[in-house]
Amino acid sequence: MKMPVAFLLLLALLNAMEVHGEASEGQCDYKLALDPRPHSVSILEFGAVGDGKTLNTIAFQNAIFYLKSFADKGGAQLYVPPGKWLTGSFNLTSHLTLFLEKGAVILGSQNPSHWDIVDPLPSYGRGIELPGRRYRSLINGYMLQDVVITGDNGTIDGQGSVWWDWFNSKSLNYSRPHLVELVSSEHIVVSNLTFLNSPAYNIHPVYCSNVHIQNLSLYVPPNSPYTVGIVPDSSDNVCIEDCSIAMGHDAIAIKSGWDEYGIAYGRQTTDVHIRRVHLQSSSGSSIAFGSEMSGGISNVQVDKVHLYNSLVGIEFRTTKGRGGYFKDIIISDVELDNIVTAFVACGDCGSHPDEDFDPNALPVVDQITLKNVIGTNISIAGNFRGIQESHFTNICLSHITLAINPASSSTPSWVCSYVSGFSDSVSPEPCPDLESSYSNSSSSACFSLLKPYGRTAAF
Ligand SMILES: *[C@@H]1O[C@H](CO)[C@@H](O)[C@H](O)[C@H]1NC(C)=O
Ligand SMILES: *[C@@H]1O[C@H](CO)[C@@H](O)[C@H](O)[C@H]1NC(C)=O
Ligand SMILES: *[C@@H]1O[C@H](CO)[C@@H](O)[C@H](O)[C@H]1NC(C)=O
Ligand SMILES: *[C@@H]1O[C@H](CO)[C@@H](O)[C@H](O)[C@H]1NC(C)=O
Ligand SMILES: *[C@@H]1O[C@H](CO)[C@@H](O)[C@H](O)[C@H]1NC(C)=O
Ligand SMILES: *[C@@H]1O[C@H](CO)[C@@H](O)[C@H](O)[C@H]1NC(C)=O
Ligand SMILES: *[C@@H]1O[C@H](CO)[C@@H](O)[C@H](O)[C@H]1NC(C)=O
Repeated sequence: MKMPVAFLLLLALLNAMEVHGEASEGQCDYKLALDPRPHSVSILEFGAVGDGKTLNTIAFQNAIFYLKSFADKGGAQLYVPPGKWLTGSFNLTSHLTLFLEKGAVILGSQNPSHWDIVDPLPSYGRGIELPGRRYRSLINGYMLQDVVITGDNGTIDGQGSVWWDWFNSKSLNYSRPHLVELVSSEHIVVSNLTFLNSPAYNIHPVYCSNVHIQNLSLYVPPNSPYTVGIVPDSSDNVCIEDCSIAMGHDAIAIKSGWDEYGIAYGRQTTDVHIRRVHLQSSSGSSIAFGSEMSGGISNVQVDKVHLYNSLVGIEFRTTKGRGGYFKDIIISDVELDNIVTAFVACGDCGSHPDEDFDPNALPVVDQITLKNVIGTNISIAGNFRGIQESHFTNICLSHITLAINPASSSTPSWVCSYVSGFSDSVSPEPCPDLESSYSNSSSSACFSLLKPYGRTAAF
């Protein structure tokens, strides 16, 4: 599974199965076996008060410190009953289930002194919004195993309005916190919850393996600045399924580190499967790749997704200085509604952490397939702007029908530069760079991915 060749063979096999009416699966394929924990305590036992006013940070920290002692006894559950549980940031521990009952709301404190300041991530070298350190997230995991954050549709509400105001007025002293951040951790499940009003990202697994994110609702007001839903970052074996997300910026953003820091850290994001999600993004993309991608991003499968009311449907962002790559990405069975630009691949999108980036570190973009797409009320079909010194190659478009909003009929539907690839049954007709069998791409790259349509010699 780690090897692209094996992955392509698997895709070919799954595609063959699809023809016979079976769904293709990837990292979401395994059965989540969640045994109940043998021990459970309620946050009430640690003196927490669910009045929305009392600060419960110490109660959460003490409860989790206590539950640490059950790590080698099958783990334990921290039960959060109905109520409004105000807290500052706290850490989780291994073999822990955090369970939020129906009506339980964890509220993030609006007082910045309740949020610790921590070092930047090594693959970013600085805070993402401001140089230097950053706020610790509300709920954190560091080097953990077997953590479940779940409930009966309980809520984690970041009360982010103060953070959005500080961001907009440029009065932040450190980069904003996220709701949940898991660092260097394995076997993580986040499920059956609602996330509201995150200060910045909602869920950020970074340097993680085996992350399963399932059946969540994530909302913020559409004008909240640079709020992002789920951000798999330098992580592998990630499944995101059955989620509804509406963000100010990107709904799902796949990343892997920033310029020289990401290159030096060198951990890619790979083996990601996203399916059955409903995504909207008022000022960003429903699904974004990058712009931070310096560790590389590969083997991503996206299928059965509904993207709507967004500025961009699917976007690949990179720039000179990033290094890294996007490769072996297959996106299929996509419904797009009310989207300004359906697809973007941008070779000059993204800023740099500092002046020390290497402008000769050119990203590679290769083998991106988009197939089985239906769109309504789209203004621009595709905007593919590669890099002169590093063309985007093997961009494959197949069975795509986009209904262009008549008000946009004067602007070109497709814009292309420094890209090459193939297309098959695409309407409106794509730019010549993506149209012909005489383009510079090697046809075998699309071939295995387009196999279900029985194209053999045509490319
Ligand atoms: C939380 O974990 C971090 C390591 O990520 C540690 O530095 C910090 O002291 C922990 N905080 C508490 C309250 O345990
Ligand atoms: C999704 O979560 C809700 C509670 O948030 C639950 O009622 C529902 O059964 C869950 N669905 C699945 C498929 O797990
Ligand atoms: C979960 O709760 C939110 C409000 O907190 C509600 O909008 C949503 O419909 C609920 N989802 C389920 C599956 O009950
Ligand atoms: C940033 O620091 C200044 C000076 O210490 C302080 O007045 C201000 O409240 C801080 N801003 C935030 C959002 O904490
Ligand atoms: C989500 O909730 C449903 C319904 O209660 C339950 O069957 C399922 O196991 C839960 N999923 C997880 C991953 O906890
Ligand atoms: C078409 O999509 C645009 C966003 O691109 C939106 O503003 C507009 O309301 C949509 N029109 C209809 C009829 O839904
Ligand atoms: C394709 O190859 C030809 C010659 O091999 C070259 O002149 C042209 O710039 C290439 N076009 C692209 C889009 O790579």
